[in-house]
Amino acid sequence: MRRAAAVTFPRGLNTVRARAESCLKCITALRAGKEILSRILTRGEVRARRVDPRGIAYDRISGALGTLMGRVAGKVALVTGSARGIGAACARALAHEGASVWVSDILDSEGAKVAREIGGNARYVHLDVADERQWIGVMDGIVREAGRLDVLVNNAGVTGFDRPDGPQDPEHASLESWRRVHAVNAEGTFLGCKHAIGVMKRPIGGRPRGGSIINISSRSGVVGIAGAAAYAASKAAIRNHTKSVALYCAQHAMGIRCNSIHPGSILTPMWDHMLGEGAAREEAIAQVAASVPLGRMGTPQDVAHLVVFLASDESAYMTGSELTLDGGILAGWEAQPGGR
Ligand SMILES: NC(=O)c1ccc[n+]([C@@H]2O[C@H](COP(=O)([O-])OP(=O)(O)OC[C@H]3O[C@@H](n4cnc5c(N)ncnc54)[C@H](O)[C@@H]3O)[C@@H](O)[C@H]2O)c1
Repeated sequence: MRRAAAVTFPRGLNTVRARAESCLKCITALRAGKEILSRILTRGEVRARRVDPRGIAYDRISGALGTLMGRVAGKVALVTGSARGIGAACARALAHEGASVWVSDILDSEGAKVAREIGGNARYVHLDVADERQWIGVMDGIVREAGRLDVLVNNAGVTGFDRPDGPQDPEHASLESWRRVHAVNAEGTFLGCKHAIGVMKRPIGGRPRGGSIINISSRSGVVGIAGAAAYAASKAAIRNHTKSVALYCAQHAMGIRCNSIHPGSILTPMWDHMLGEGAAREEAIAQVAASVPLGRMGTPQDVAHLVVFLASDESAYMTGSELTLDGGILAGWEAQPGGR
């Protein structure tokens, strides 16, 4: 057992605020690798006993904290490409569940607006994920101001359709556009993992600090797309690199987990180029929805729920996993007897 943390429990924790403050002290002590005194409430009275931070009592305390303060309370998270779409939903959900969130993007005014809307526990920072110097600067800033990074969501991504970059099929795509898509999707994720490992592996209180890296790949990281070859190849690179990162961090007992999410057909601005406008857009959305087994396009919040789970200690035994989130698209092939 390590030394007990200086956690004091006021008598009569009968307000939500007092309980929340008490829980926050507990979790801060646990994260610092200290033994703590757990609190047991009986008619507002507090009794204390010693517990192992890694033991069952930890679950009770984080469970209590979860109820009062959120599932990722006290964690520091960075979400790339979070000025809109899936990234913005992830930033909002993580903040809602108690994390301090760094919203980042190349769309500065939109990103700053998302951070303002979230409020006190969010801030915006410019980060072009394809630029290693910017990664180094942002990580230095987070360490300087927050002292730690617990969660990285490598979300920023481009399809190749977002610019007039020409065709994206394997025969006609230009090398330049292939490289641009890979620079953001694959290299951006590589750089994020590399620099997050450097920060997350630093020990605290003699134990590895650890963290959770969540890479947003795509259903296209599992199957090909004839008309978006660079996008699909770069997303497959993310899927595989996730497993290398997971194994490397496990081998070195860093306490860092790394998992990939594979969304499909999530209605975000990424689809604007493909859906058109007005009535045509509504019709196009209906057509996409009809091709999804669950009969609808996904929402950014659908992805954010899974991101919160992977960011939280609820997924402590998961690393190197690939999780599809596509309304059932990848579950099978539609040309089948009895298909709809
Ligand atoms: N929407 C879907 O159906 C879907 C499906 C599978 C995977 N994804 C993936 O989810 C992620 C988010 O997509 P979305 O649908 O929210 O798209 P989106 O276009 O709405 O958002 C992408 C964000 O990434 C930012 N970005 C682009 N280049 C960047 C760079 N170099 N550095 C930092 N930020 C950059 C954009 O400015 C934007 O804010 C992407 O990686 C995408 O490939 C989306």
